[in-house]
Amino acid sequence: MKVSIFRRAHFNAAHRLHNPDWTDEKNMEVFGVCSNPNYHGHNYELEVKVSGEIDPETGMVLNLAWLADLIKREVEHRFDHKNLNVDTVEFKNLNPTAENICVVIWQILREHLPQKFDLLVRLYETPRNFVEVGH
Ligand code: NI
Repeated sequence: MKVSIFRRAHFNAAHRLHNPDWTDEKNMEVFGVCSNPNYHGHNYELEVKVSGEIDPETGMVLNLAWLADLIKREVEHRFDHKNLNVDTVEFKNLNPTAENICVVIWQILREHLPQKFDLLVRLYETPRNFVEVGH
């Protein structure tokens, strides 16, 4: 039987949505105020779901302290209080939309998680706008 465990995390970051192949007018038309050249910030809320069988030896799917530490090390330390466009290699050439941020976080965590587990990442850019990657 598959059981899912969840961990929530949080980071603050600035970004600007911008396609360098477009004119300023087109960027403003598509991204609105999110294309403001001077950036703006979000309080990102992250939910990470890991699913798998319960290990009969530990009674756990995965040690939540290990998962919390992984998220802190690989996601929070990487993105918290950063300007995503300017300060991170991940978004140097990738538009830091909620969709792309969520995919990048999923890829980073997936690399560190044993293959036997399913991984789902949900990223809230605002309490009402959120994106989900994985299963
Ligand atoms: Ni934004």
